[in-house]
Amino acid sequence: MSYYEILGGRPLSGSLAVHGAKNSVLPILAACLLSPGQSVIHNCPDLSDVSATMDILRLLGCRVEREGGTVTIDASALSRWDIPEHLMREMRSSVIFLGALLARLGTAELSYPGGCELGPRPIDLHLSALRALGAEIWEEQGALCCQGRGSLRGRELCLSIPSVGATENAMLAACSCPGLTTIVGAAQEPEIVDLQNFLQAMGAKVVGAGTPNLTIEGGVPLHPAEYRVMGDRIAAATYLCGVAAAGGEAEVTGVSPDTLTAVLACLEEAGCTLHTSADSIVLSCDAPLRGINPVRTAPYPGFPTDAQAILMAALAGGEGVTLFVENIFDSRYRHVDELRRMGADIQIAGRAAMVSGVGRLHGAAVRSTDLRGGAALVVAALGAEGTTKVGQLRHIRRGYQDFDKNLRALGADIREVP
Ligand code: EPZ
Repeated sequence: MSYYEILGGRPLSGSLAVHGAKNSVLPILAACLLSPGQSVIHNCPDLSDVSATMDILRLLGCRVEREGGTVTIDASALSRWDIPEHLMREMRSSVIFLGALLARLGTAELSYPGGCELGPRPIDLHLSALRALGAEIWEEQGALCCQGRGSLRGRELCLSIPSVGATENAMLAACSCPGLTTIVGAAQEPEIVDLQNFLQAMGAKVVGAGTPNLTIEGGVPLHPAEYRVMGDRIAAATYLCGVAAAGGEAEVTGVSPDTLTAVLACLEEAGCTLHTSADSIVLSCDAPLRGINPVRTAPYPGFPTDAQAILMAALAGGEGVTLFVENIFDSRYRHVDELRRMGADIQIAGRAAMVSGVGRLHGAAVRSTDLRGGAALVVAALGAEGTTKVGQLRHIRRGYQDFDKNLRALGADIREVP
């Protein structure tokens, strides 16, 4: 198994364009099913989760081709509505195909989705939203069978948790439900806005993304569209935390600072200097990071749960104490044991984690536990004394394109050892 070997302590510098947003392109690729014809998606990142999604589209009968950062999907010859377990297990976000297949074919059959093990990953909100729209959903030998033919109707939906995936699934299904659907308590993440923009480009009548109330006028005929995916705000946060951990000054481009305000505020409070433009962020840091006020993860626009491990890794090698509270997922501290191997002083009590900066971490042999936990270990290694080996790179490849190459371009001493 290959691993990253990182010699820490080298300040970073330079400029880096972040890849397209994983959590935006996955639902957008599924949304291509809503209409026959060829859609074109630009700034599509080359990630294993994206490849898995493209494999599912091909299995369903779509023609999918990649040319660099541009992916074309022709969903004319959709011939299947069932997704086998081995493809569903590859990632959790494959559950998004439920809404897309119901919308296009009125039927779908999926096994329970896989993905990072971040505690129980229920899909009850997805299922209750689709049932409310008129879908019949039942379980048969571990597969979810869904029937919506002729019974889908728009109506008011209320989400008890602003679930990103449930909001997206309801949006896609509602596009084919004659009548008006309102989603009250919708997730407000920028990726939802990106999905709305793509659906509007397909001719859908969807408004309200980025607010808690979404409205979809269903039954409107849709057509294929050409669209450029937004920049990945969590990948941008990762590179910025890497600069904060290692010191130096670097720029990330291709991302709107407005999509990661909460993360930037924490980095500034920790002592970093930030300069932003419409689609770029420059961060400089020439002193050890300070402890900051409690970091509580929350639905957007709160602090994103996906950046929790990443910021924690940077602060663990700084000075001062910071309390983290992980409010979104039940067990998203699996990276803490690995950070402790690098000398981190982190005390966990339920959802809370108290990080006491130790001035400098030291290199160690560590293993990625999940996508963002793995990225956090690389961030920690960049500022650590000595050499760190990070294993289980398959987790990192799910969400970071050219991770080591990009960090080398910023001056990091990192290489992949086969
Ligand atoms: C999306 O996951 C993202 N994934 C996650 O990013 C991100 O952490 C999460 O949103 C929160 O922002 C993609 O977009 C592909 P949720 P999702 O439904 O949709 C509970 C990464 O690292 N819940 O908003 O699965 C759930 O258990 C990944 O890129 C239910 O209880 O997240 C969690 O506690 C990790 N029932 C909370 O809601 C449901 O039916 C938020 O989950 C659905 C969710």
